[in-house]
Amino acid sequence: MTSVLRVVALTIGCAVALVWFQSVSYSFVEMLSRAVRLQNTCIAATRQASSAAGRSHSEAGKPATTDEYIAREKKYGAHNYDPIKVVLAEGKGVKLRDVEGKWYYDFLSGYSAVSPGHCHPRLVEVMNSQARKLTLTSRAFYTNVLGEYAEFVTKLFGYDKVLPMNSGVEGSETSVKLARRWAYDVKGVPKYKAKVVFARDNFWGRSIAAVSASNDPDSYGGYGPFVPGFESIPYNDLAAVERAISDPNCAAYMVEPIQGEAGIVVPKPGYMQGVRELCTKHNVLMIADEVQTGCGRTGKLLCSHHYDIRPDIVVLGKALSGGMYPVSGVLCDDDIMLNIKPGQHGSTYGGNPLACRLAIEALRIIIDEKLPENATNMGKILRTRLRALPGEVVSEVRGKGLLCGVVINPNISAKEVCTKLMKNGLLTKNTHGTDGNIIRFAPPLTINEAEINEAADIIMKTMQTFA
Ligand SMILES: Cc1ncc(COP(=O)(O)O)c(C=O)c1O
Repeated sequence: MTSVLRVVALTIGCAVALVWFQSVSYSFVEMLSRAVRLQNTCIAATRQASSAAGRSHSEAGKPATTDEYIAREKKYGAHNYDPIKVVLAEGKGVKLRDVEGKWYYDFLSGYSAVSPGHCHPRLVEVMNSQARKLTLTSRAFYTNVLGEYAEFVTKLFGYDKVLPMNSGVEGSETSVKLARRWAYDVKGVPKYKAKVVFARDNFWGRSIAAVSASNDPDSYGGYGPFVPGFESIPYNDLAAVERAISDPNCAAYMVEPIQGEAGIVVPKPGYMQGVRELCTKHNVLMIADEVQTGCGRTGKLLCSHHYDIRPDIVVLGKALSGGMYPVSGVLCDDDIMLNIKPGQHGSTYGGNPLACRLAIEALRIIIDEKLPENATNMGKILRTRLRALPGEVVSEVRGKGLLCGVVINPNISAKEVCTKLMKNGLLTKNTHGTDGNIIRFAPPLTINEAEINEAADIIMKTMQTFA
């Protein structure tokens, strides 16, 4: 009996304990789920509030006018550029449209990058199809595109190897690194004594190495200390080249076959051939910075071809992707390229599949559409028209192919001329060189005769107002 009572008491005790535990745990669970519900409500409310804020920003705060777009960019963006006051929203062929619906001739082409014209359908197609497949793996792995691109670009330009990078400055800097490695490993220059020579007024970008080679205070001022082992000499002066490169520690002379940013400075006849001969004579590498002049811009695939020379190293960029994407590359032969070993140079994006596909297609367009030939023909028409500009405004016209420069007389502001050109429907910018009084005219290489003449009419009409 007592044992029966004990079992009953135990059972009742367990039931009470269970009920108590359940009620406690239920309320705990209930509390938890209430907390979660509350939290979800808060998150939803926050999302609603922030999307409402987003809507009110884009509806009430969205810039509507040119001035409003510029004000926003100035407020939130660094002030390292001083653009012409036009806000662009669309590009097609040789023209650009601003946010207010006005179309302009593009006579800058993204500093000579957009050679096949804006949004070339073949490039847009390649961009889309490759973007759907594979864009970036890094160079930790092989891809099925880099080899194809490397074969294509080296066979096209006639070099053993290509080293792919992204921006022009990276390409140029890569060429300096290649030259230093070659100097130590092949030429036998004592460790860290290599010298690289540059032409004065060069422009190859904005890195610390590039500004260390610059003599433009806007470029280098305030950025020291600078990279040692660089020397600059006057452009167009073969005696200066020989003096500088006969130093047994000299690794390379880097030169633009036409100086772009300096103001479209075409070297005097025989200069580039003389540089080639002197570099060979003194066992110094000749580096041609063809970032701006290459890929058909001056009427040949490389500007160096005008002078029938083969530089030891060629740097390409800008138009290598047709203006779609930053793609640069350095071309040279194995005796130079293979001194850089795995792990000694590189870039996450360099040689990525999207870049390689775009570069192959951009180069094919240059060949298929005969853009160098068109650059030669349209360039002749353009320079003939520019030479008829009023002498009180323009003192000199120079260039090759569709890389042209006009020197504006010093009593007239070249920037003001560019602003007026913009108002009349043509976009370009003065170069940095010689106090900024040189205006560059470099339209897409696809421009036709009717377009070049219409653009020349705009330039004439504008320049006449300054006469
Ligand atoms: C001759 C030359 N080299 C190198 C560069 C640097 O190219 P990026 O601006 O793509 O770095 C430029 C840019 O204008 C250039 O004109």
